[in-house]
Amino acid sequence: MSSRYRIEYHLKSHRKDAFIDWIKNLLSVPFVLHSTSQGSSSKTHFDYLQIFKNIESLIDEKLSTQVTSNSKSRLERLVPTIGTFFTSLPVSEAFIIEDNKRAISQRLMVSPSFNDIRHILNTAQILQLAKANNLKLITFDGDVTLYEDGGSMTMENKSATRIIQLLKRHICVGIVTAAGYDDSELYESRLFGLLRQLELRDDITLEEKQKLTIMGGESNFLFQYNEINGHGYFRRIEEAYWMPKSIQEWSISDINATLDLVENCFKSLKISLKLPDETKIIRKKKAVGLVPGEFYDTELGKNIKLFLQREALEEIVLNIQSCLELFEPASRLKFSCFDGGNDVWCDIGGKDIGIQILQTFYDPETPIMPFETLHVGDQFAPIGSANDFKTRLSSCTSWIASPQETVNLLDDLLVYMTKNSQC
Ligand code: IMP
Ligand code: MG
Repeated sequence: MSSRYRIEYHLKSHRKDAFIDWIKNLLSVPFVLHSTSQGSSSKTHFDYLQIFKNIESLIDEKLSTQVTSNSKSRLERLVPTIGTFFTSLPVSEAFIIEDNKRAISQRLMVSPSFNDIRHILNTAQILQLAKANNLKLITFDGDVTLYEDGGSMTMENKSATRIIQLLKRHICVGIVTAAGYDDSELYESRLFGLLRQLELRDDITLEEKQKLTIMGGESNFLFQYNEINGHGYFRRIEEAYWMPKSIQEWSISDINATLDLVENCFKSLKISLKLPDETKIIRKKKAVGLVPGEFYDTELGKNIKLFLQREALEEIVLNIQSCLELFEPASRLKFSCFDGGNDVWCDIGGKDIGIQILQTFYDPETPIMPFETLHVGDQFAPIGSANDFKTRLSSCTSWIASPQETVNLLDDLLVYMTKNSQC
């Protein structure tokens, strides 16, 4: 029963990624044709590879039509909701690498999955960035990407050492998180492992270390690494220095009216969806959140975190979005509503804007381009319920599913970059 529940849940159209789904369908044909005979894995591998070669050409054709004409590419006709590509994607080379690791074409019973394709696309993206040798900015989501959901970067955090290697290579690093705190203390305590590792390193200059920033509240608060007497901390950068004029012009009354509406929706949905009494609504300057709270378990004798139903979380996000779509004050600004796995937030701004701000912050004269930027995150489900989704408007992306996958991705990226610099 529970596996059927999971399967049906993932079949919901708003959870699907149309491009990944389309690739999955293409691969299902050779899978069915060859899965009846033992020893057919080389044929399966060959057919899968041909499909990826074709996809690669379709992406290149889309890239050239994006630049040269207003007409639709073949890929846009085949996958109407497909987004913008900023680089070519060597998906056939990536397929060979991933087939080697994941034995995709050896499987007779389980066809290529969403995760297989997600890994192939991630590998293709980092291969391409390494080949082009022009990665200037890499941004990371926080929860689930750098540390466990609600967790912190401890001294043992493996991504921290990889981030330091990137900084040593003069690549700018931004942590673009929805978590919004207007002073640095909470970021410093959640990222203390990275701070302590950085301050201990004397093989990297302060100038290189200062290429580390945090963009908090999606696009609302900017901090930069700094050191005083060998002690690392995050220095808050004044808004006037980095906030685009168009965003400074958003009126306080529109922001407050938007957040008031969301807060009232949360209150009425808490009642209509029969959410536990402990569920709390948190109001901040640029965000409102609905969080599960805790209850005292008399059997265990301690406080236990509540878990909200997935369906309830999604119902809330979709309701808020449809209310805001019709709300005039919200139409004069940008906002981002998402389901964070066990909470729902509506932030003023968005991670697409957060990345654009960093692209200009690091180089005000010649801002870093989307094809020189990679965002790594866990929330890419389409139709608005995920906060990394919009980063596809400003950068190349990699969709990971756990902090360990981020570490693996960074290891691969560093290997590919080293190989290419030696060529
Ligand atoms: P991210 O994955 O790093 O973008 O962080 C998302 C999580 O940060 C959410 O699911 C919340 O649990 C937490 N969070 C804390 N403060 C805020 C806020 O002001 N806006 C949105 N999310 C917040
Ligand atoms: Mg996340």
